Amino acid sequence: MNQTTLLILHGPNLNLLGTRETNIYGNLTLENLNSEIKKYAESLNITATTEQYNTESELISTIQSAATTYNGIIINAAAYTHTSVAIRDAIAAISIPVIEVHLSNIYQRESFRHHSMIASVCIGQISGFGKHSYFLALQALKLKHQ
Ligand code: DQA
Repeated sequence: MNQTTLLILHGPNLNLLGTRETNIYGNLTLENLNSEIKKYAESLNITATTEQYNTESELISTIQSAATTYNGIIINAAAYTHTSVAIRDAIAAISIPVIEVHLSNIYQRESFRHHSMIASVCIGQISGFGKHSYFLALQALKLKHQ
């Protein structure tokens, strides 16, 4: 079995996990979330690198350069999910598989969160399972890469 190398990319405001709207996102900090993701990834023989950016431009540059380094991307584009044609186009431009994840169930929330600009260029979307959304995405990309 090949070693799978994945990028976990977190978007704006996810650096505030642990204190931000804890009724929706829970108490886990980004640091703790990342270490749980890496631990789960190791159990699947996946090497996971995590990055977080608040700006659209950093997210786009990271997606562009990830294509030559990783076997896939798990992206929580956060609020940019609902607004960014540019992130959508960056994902469409690369050939590695990308999975969209959300901690919360975006379809149970405000109507402006019901539309994802990136869903149609991702191989799938996992929404509503908290940290397990990332774990499920790791499993999916592992199966895809085998
Ligand atoms: C989110 C959902 C988005 O609507 C929101 O803007 C976020 C987080 C989630 O993980 O549930 O910042 O992507």
